[in-house]
Amino acid sequence: MVSLFDSQALNGTVFLKNRIVMAPMTRTRTSDGDVPNELMAIYYGQRASAGLIVTEATDVAPSSKGYALTPGIHTEAQQQGWRLVTDEVHRNDGTIFLQLWHVGRMAHPSLMPNGEAPWGVTEARAEHSDVFAHDTNGKLDFIRAGTPRRLETIEVEALVDTFSQSFANARRAGFDGVEIHGANGYLVDQFLNSALNTRTDRYGGGNVQDRTRFLVDVVDAAVRELGPGRVGVRLSPFGTYNSMPPDPLAEETLLYLCELLGSRGVAYLHLVYQLMPAGNMESSEFKERHIEQALLTKVRAAFPGAIIWCGGITSRESAQAALETRLVDLIAFGRPYIANPDLVERLQRGWPLAEALPSTFYTRHGEVGYTDFPTYSIEQPEGR
Ligand SMILES: Cc1cc2nc3c(=O)[nH]c(=O)nc-3n(C[C@H](O)[C@H](O)[C@H](O)COP(=O)(O)O)c2cc1C
Repeated sequence: MVSLFDSQALNGTVFLKNRIVMAPMTRTRTSDGDVPNELMAIYYGQRASAGLIVTEATDVAPSSKGYALTPGIHTEAQQQGWRLVTDEVHRNDGTIFLQLWHVGRMAHPSLMPNGEAPWGVTEARAEHSDVFAHDTNGKLDFIRAGTPRRLETIEVEALVDTFSQSFANARRAGFDGVEIHGANGYLVDQFLNSALNTRTDRYGGGNVQDRTRFLVDVVDAAVRELGPGRVGVRLSPFGTYNSMPPDPLAEETLLYLCELLGSRGVAYLHLVYQLMPAGNMESSEFKERHIEQALLTKVRAAFPGAIIWCGGITSRESAQAALETRLVDLIAFGRPYIANPDLVERLQRGWPLAEALPSTFYTRHGEVGYTDFPTYSIEQPEGR
C-alpha cells in the first residue's frame, strides 16, 4: 500500500523523500526590487521536510507583475536572492522547484513598466477581480485589475523566449526544477480557456492545438533548458478564479495537454480543483470542487508522469485516502503549510495542526505569521 511517507522519483531525475508537497503560495515578503531575502530563506528552509517545495509564483519579466512585493527571477539581484533560499533548503535536505508565471491581464498600470496597460490574450478585463497594486494615492491596496492590451502574435512568440531565459536563471539560482503556472486565471490559463481566448491567430482559442500552443512552446523551452524531469505544470481546469469564464471545452483541453506533456516526459502535472470566488484569497472562502473520478482516470491513462493533487486536504487521513485511489501520486498542502513548518512530522505523528491568521498571508508583516510559527512541542502542545 502506498504511503504519504514513501519516497518518489520524478521521472527518474529528482528524488522526493515523501509524497507531501508544499503548494505554491504568494506571501509578498520580498525586499526592494522584488528581491528574495534572508527572511524568505528562513521560511522555506523551515519547511524543507516536505518531499517537494514549490515556491510562490515568480515573475519572468517586469511586465508579468500583477501583485506588489512578489519576487522575480529576471535580474541578477533576484537570482542571488533566490540562491539564499535554495542553499538554505538544500542545507536542510529539501527539494525546491520555482513556480514561474506571467500574470497577463491580472495586472494594473501602476505596477507595469512605464505605466502601460496589462498584457492580455484579448482586451477582456477581469471585471470582478483585484490585484495588489497602488491606488490613486499611491498606497498599496487590492484594486480592480486594469484593462489589458491584446498581445500581437510576435509578442507572444517573444514571451516564450522570456520564459526560456527565466528557466536558465532558475538553474543558475540553484533550483531543482521549475513549475509553470498554468492555473488560476493567469496568462497561460487565459490562453487555454476557449471561452476567454477569442484570438484567431496561431495562439487562438478556436481549436485545441492553437489554444495550448503557448503553454506547449513554454514547456518545450523548459525541457530544452532543464530536461523533462525538472519540469512540472500546474493547471486548474474548470477554475473560475480571477473572473475566468466557465470553459465548455476544459475537459478536451486537459486531456489533449496530458498527451502532449506526457509525450515530452514532463515530470508532473499539478492539478488544483477549486472553485474560488473572485477577489483576493485572504478574504475568500475556498470551496472544494472534486473532479469526477471518471475524468481523473482518463487523465491518469493519458499522462505517464506524476500527478499532484491540491486543494482542501487538511489531514493525514484525507491525504492517504486520495493516494489510495491510485489516481494521484503526491498531495500538495497550501494553507496548512503556513502555520505548520513541520507539517510532515505533525501528520506522521498525529499531532494537531496550528491555524494561520489570514490577515498575515500577504503584505508587509515581516516575520509575523510567516517565520514565527514554532515546530510542535509536547511541552507546549498548543503551539503559538
Ligand atoms: C496565501 C496564498 C497564496 C497563494 N499563492 C499562490 C501562488 O503563488 N501560485 C499558485 O499556483 N497558487 C497559489 N495559491 C493557491 C494554493 O497553491 C492552493 O492551490 C490553494 O491554497 C488550495 O490548497 P489548500 O486548500 O491546501 O490551501 C495561494 C493560496 C494562498 C492561501
